[in-house]
Amino acid sequence: MTTAPDAAPVLTVEDLTVVYEVDEPVTAVRGADLTLHRGEILGLAGESGCGKTTLAYAVNRLHRPPARIASGRITFHDKSGEDVDVLALEDAALRAFRWDRLSMVFQGAMNALNPVATIRAQLADTLRAHRPRMSRKEIRDRSEDVLRRVGVDPGRLGSYPHQLSGGMRQRVMIAMAMLLEPQIMIMDEPTTALDVVVQRDILREIVRLRDELDFAVVFITHDLPLLLEISDRIAVMLEGEIVELDTAERLYRQAAHPYTRKLLGSFPSLSGERGAFIRTGIDETDAGETGTGETGTDGAAASESDPTEERA
Ligand SMILES: Nc1ncnc2c1ncn2[C@@H]1O[C@H](COP(=O)(O)OP(=O)(O)O)[C@@H](O)[C@H]1O
Ligand SMILES: [Mg+2]
Repeated sequence: MTTAPDAAPVLTVEDLTVVYEVDEPVTAVRGADLTLHRGEILGLAGESGCGKTTLAYAVNRLHRPPARIASGRITFHDKSGEDVDVLALEDAALRAFRWDRLSMVFQGAMNALNPVATIRAQLADTLRAHRPRMSRKEIRDRSEDVLRRVGVDPGRLGSYPHQLSGGMRQRVMIAMAMLLEPQIMIMDEPTTALDVVVQRDILREIVRLRDELDFAVVFITHDLPLLLEISDRIAVMLEGEIVELDTAERLYRQAAHPYTRKLLGSFPSLSGERGAFIRTGIDETDAGETGTGETGTDGAAASESDPTEERA
């Protein structure tokens, strides 16, 4: 089973500061330090307005004026061993870097699909832009494969976005982000707009895909209970600063920062008996050392039917 925090880093963010240069400048990210390990799911938590999206955009170099990176270094550690200075990338290299090595599912992304193009056309466009040598058959095969992986029937390739449910559209966006097999996927509130059942299905899918394909995930949400279930480690942001970063387990049991404790306390579901881990069943093998006794006997959410633990 992945013990991702021990794996090699895939992304290092050092002392990142992002300022919105408006009348009264807003320092939305302040001296952020962050290491993401290969294959790790890193949760980024914090209430609305604390700077999560700004941080994600900066890591992608997708920030636009008035946002400005005032300081910091962002290094991508490619699996080939090459280190990429993300802030120094020029246009063409930057375009190749995005989607290919690091992709992003944007907040509200499911409404960002092109309404007048089929899913097939949108996947093919991305593949043609980044993989100009792919044949039509390869494009078709890859498009079908990626949809299947996120649990959408490839028969939907001919559909337009409005013909799909919200959950399906969000799955398509995740498929899009996976299309080029990036080493990192940043997901900004990917399931916030969905109902709880659909949200859980998709989260389970993301954890399973990570186990299969071993990409790293930065999962952003204000929903701390959800992060506790799916993350290897969690960073807590407060007013632009990362005030705590620890394993999900330690953060839950012995948070160091008062704000983290306050945040934990603000979710009634965490004060009582904790709900079953989404990863229960996937994660049982390494749950032993910390003991899952307290997570209780609630087997409801543990009906992980997918036999992916063969990879353990
Ligand atoms: N275009 C902008 N101009 C000025 N301030 C902005 C802009 N976008 C975001 N901010 C401010 O930056 C801070 C962080 O916002 P954001 O990164 O969207 O937070 P989060 O994703 O955690 O909700 C907020 O105080 C927000 O008001
Ligand atoms: Mg946001």
